[in-house]
This record gives sequence, C-alpha cells and structure tokens, in this order.
Amino acid sequence: MSLLIKNGEIVTASERYIADIFCEGETVTRIDRNIAPPAGTEVIDAKGKFVFPGFIDPHVHIYLPFMGTFSKDTYETGSKAALVGGTTTLIEMCCPSRADEALAGFELWMKQAVGKSACDFTFHMGVTKFDGNTEKQLREIVARGISSFKIFLAYKGAFGVDDTELYRTLKLAKELGVIVTAHCENETLVAERCKELLAAGKTDPGQHHESRPPRVEAEGVHHLMTFAELTGAATYIVHLSCQEALNEAIAARQRGVRVAVETLIQYLVLDKSYAERPNFEGAKFVMSPPLRDKRNQEILWNGLRDGLVQTVATDHCPFDFAKQKPMGKDDFTKIPNGIPSLEERINLLYTHGVKMGRLDLRTFVNVASTQVAKLFDLFPRKGAIQPGADADLVVFDPNYRGTISAKTQMMNVDYSAFEGWPIEGRPSVVTVRGEVAVRDGKFVGKIGRGQFLKRAPSHF
Ligand code: URP
Ligand code: ZN
Ligand code: ZN
Repeated sequence: MSLLIKNGEIVTASERYIADIFCEGETVTRIDRNIAPPAGTEVIDAKGKFVFPGFIDPHVHIYLPFMGTFSKDTYETGSKAALVGGTTTLIEMCCPSRADEALAGFELWMKQAVGKSACDFTFHMGVTKFDGNTEKQLREIVARGISSFKIFLAYKGAFGVDDTELYRTLKLAKELGVIVTAHCENETLVAERCKELLAAGKTDPGQHHESRPPRVEAEGVHHLMTFAELTGAATYIVHLSCQEALNEAIAARQRGVRVAVETLIQYLVLDKSYAERPNFEGAKFVMSPPLRDKRNQEILWNGLRDGLVQTVATDHCPFDFAKQKPMGKDDFTKIPNGIPSLEERINLLYTHGVKMGRLDLRTFVNVASTQVAKLFDLFPRKGAIQPGADADLVVFDPNYRGTISAKTQMMNVDYSAFEGWPIEGRPSVVTVRGEVAVRDGKFVGKIGRGQFLKRAPSHF
C-alpha cells in the first residue's frame, strides 16, 4: 500500500519547504518535487496546507485510578480524540498505587492499551514505591521497552515517594540511562495548607490554588534538582506552571543538572480566575499544579520560544463535571484533579502560539513533536519527516475556522474547559504509519492498529 501527499508545505523542527511525501507501507520512503504516483497509490492533495510530523503528547492519563475514582477515557475514546487533534503517539503515565508491584502495574496498563488503541503509545513507568522487590522489576520493565520513569513528589500516601525512594530511583535511572519524569510539589506544604484552609471554612474550588502556591512547586523542583545533581540522573519536570518553578530549573541547569521542562497547554491559555468561577463551575479547572496568575503565561510562551521550556503536553486527565468533580462539592481537596485537553492541544497551540505570533512554525513542531521524540527515545522514527521515519503525518488546514465544544468532542468527558473558544486551523488528514486515520477532520482509523513503541534508554 502506498500513499502520496502532494504539494504541501512540509514543516519540521528545522525546515520549511514545499514537496511531495511518498510513503510505502508504514514508512516515508521519498521526499521530492513532482513525484508521480505509482498505480494503486492513494493521493492526498495538501496544496495550501502544512504537513507536520505526527504530534506526540508526552504526558497523558487514560487509565488512572485516582482520588477515589477513575479517569474517564479508554484507549478507544482517548486515541480517537488524540488523532482527531493531530496527536499520533501518546505517552501515558503508568501509575500503580503504592500497594501494587511495579511489574503487575506495567502489565495492567499494557492490558488497557494493547489491541485497543488507534494511535501508537508507550508509557513512563511510575515508581510509586522503592522497596526490596522494586529494582529487579524496574530492570525487567526497561528490558521490555520502557526508557523513562515517573515519580511524584506530591500525593502523599497515594503515588508520592519519600526521599530514600527518590534517591534510589534516580541512582538506578542513572545506571540504566533512563530519564526520570517528575511531578514537583512539596507534599507536606500542600497537606498542611489544605488542613488550614479547610479549618477556616474555605472549601470551594478557588481554594485549590491557595493550597499549592508557586513556591510549593518551586520547592518541589528545587528538591528534585538537588537529588538529580547528586546522582547525575537525567530529569524531566512535568507540568511546570510558573516562573518560580522555572527559575529553579534554570538555576539547576546552569550548574550542570540534566533537566528538561514540560509545560501544559492549560497553563499557556488558562489562568487561576477560571478555578474561582462561582457555583462550583471552578471545579472544571482544578488540577495540580494549579492554574496560575495570568502573568505566568507570557513567561511560559517566552520559555518555549527561547528553549528554556522543551515541550508542551496536556496531562490529559478527564473527570466528568456532573458525577465526578462533585466528590469535592464541600471540600476542594476531594475534587478529582485534571483538565481534559488531549484533543485540543495542537489546535490551541497553533491558534494561541503560531497565529498570535508567539511561536514560529518550526518551534511549534519542535515543542509538540520533535523534542518529545528526542527526549523519550523515539527519534527519528517519530518526530521527523524523512525517509525511514514512520509515516505519521498531519496535513493541517490553516484556513479552517471552528469552535470548541463538549458536544462535538471525541474525549469521553461531559465538559470542555475551552467551551465556545474559536480555533484557527486544524488537522484535516492524519496518518498513522502510512494509513489514513483522520479525513476531513473525522476519525476513520482502526481501533487496535496502534502499536506499543519499544524504547531503548539513551540518557547515560
Ligand atoms: O491534576 C492533575 N495533574 N491530574 C493528573 C495527575 C497528575 O498529577 O499528573
Ligand atoms: Zn502530576
Ligand atoms: Zn499527569
């Protein structure tokens, strides 16, 4: 089977040029002007459109038992939403509870995905405890194709690790060449502040950000950086939300700590006033770290532009507004944390980043695809348009105009944090390893075609 994408403007992290892309089977095999299609080739005209490498979301929750409930998507709904939004690979957080063994957790997460996903996928392996049995299991998981770990400095008693566990995880990661992704918030400060707020009768969703102000996140980053410095492990700070935390990462980088930074589309376009909306509406916008003062948005956009921030993810974690968020109706600490956005990351990043002049097209591709592939051992199979790369391609129509709504979204959740927001441009055709999975913006792919991507560690 062959596919020819003609006349589009190819945009990668380093180039922009007009050419045709010929794909045989699952792979890009030729890029040239005026390629004549052999008989039987499907031809897609991309004139007037951009052709991007498939986007990669480095931080997604599909299956997540969390705060007494489960995040709502399945691989079927989540991968469809990802593809319609231009994301052809997702990296999910595998998060076993502290009561579970790492290997059993890995197998459970694999079971949710294998045979059920329409897009390719892999996992960051959550290290939620480190006892006498853990090291052997983590070595086995790495041998099965995982090259990144995830640790939480927050969520005491659930996923959070103590300092001994943190140190041992980073030591092992350094030995194995694995990069360690980390949720950075000081859990003691969060726990104490939550108690104080509740005792003062402050129970509404708008208190969530009061319980974990920027310094709480900055302290988490500072703490991780100290451990990274002393172990030499490569680290990646997930969902960084504010200037204070970014400053800690930059200071560590300047003294030689190996650290990459991820921000989220939510932090780039939403601010904490959304979580202060009355009548519990604010619960739709409760996540951790919380949405911040608007001034942080420009800091993060500039960080992306200047290379201080490496990637944009979603931390997609959907909980229904009608039935799940109200678990915290009278106590903000019980609101399931998460703002769904898997489907909207690319359209929002394009609309608010490229169209508003904050990011050029190559940086847009870099932070949402190429840089992710490089950090997580997927490049150049993913994140590139070149002969030999997987034919994961996004034909993007910059002239499309639309409006975001929960009524039309593919994500399995009953609200959109961006309801009524205009978008300028969207993926019109998306391919996964040479097969069309989205046409005219609609999902036409195959559930079960998505592959588990085996990765080999490189961060020695
Ligand atoms: O609020 C969030 N971020 N929910 C998902 C879990 C996590 O911390 O990544
Ligand atoms: Zn987190
Ligand atoms: Zn997360």
